[in-house]
Amino acid sequence: LFAGEVEFLKGVVAMDGLPPADRPEICFAGRSNVGKSSLINALTGRKALARASNTPGRTQEINFFTLAESHYLVDLPGYGYAEAPLPKVQAWQRLLKAYLAGRPNLRRAFVLIDSRHGAKPVDEEIMQLLDSAAVTFQAVMTKADKVKAADREKSLETTRAVLAKHPAAFPEIVLTSSEKGDGLEVLRAIIAQMS
Ligand code: GTP
Ligand code: MG
Repeated sequence: LFAGEVEFLKGVVAMDGLPPADRPEICFAGRSNVGKSSLINALTGRKALARASNTPGRTQEINFFTLAESHYLVDLPGYGYAEAPLPKVQAWQRLLKAYLAGRPNLRRAFVLIDSRHGAKPVDEEIMQLLDSAAVTFQAVMTKADKVKAADREKSLETTRAVLAKHPAAFPEIVLTSSEKGDGLEVLRAIIAQMS
């Protein structure tokens, strides 16, 4: 799957702009700055496919990428704190929630969590929404290259405890680094199974 072409399809700012729900779709959700866009770039081996930056609130639209013309990968705007005007942030939060709860071809949501911090209350809010919408989700820890072993274990533990409360959560957590490449093969294999 990942040997095929990957292309940017479109950025969407309203539900009526979504492309037809005609193929399996996998999305990347998480707090602003957690590393969603970077992970899509790392997975696809394309450095600047999705725009990443150190400013929380970089991704402000729902960005669709086609993978080998058979799957959609979706880069979502972040939730939580963002450096952007409030009305804009509120608009994309509404869109994000509508998308997560109402996309019929969404096979799995990866919920990205910073390995240094573990799952936070805002993550739980999104997990609750995914439970209600019966969207299976999987926690992906990011920035593994930045965390000390002890802190990593602590945030894995916090995150495991949170996941246990959510019926739509897939129990296994994937530890990743977009910088060093950890976990990328595992994620590619998970995505390749989705049909
Ligand atoms: P928003 O679009 O603002 O919600 O952020 P995002 O979740 O898409 O995060 P983005 O990919 O833009 O990354 C945020 C910052 O974290 C950037 O400066 C990245 O270079 C950095 N970053 C992302 N992943 C990693 C990683 O695995 N390791 C390290 N060291 N830095 C990372
Ligand atoms: Mg982004």
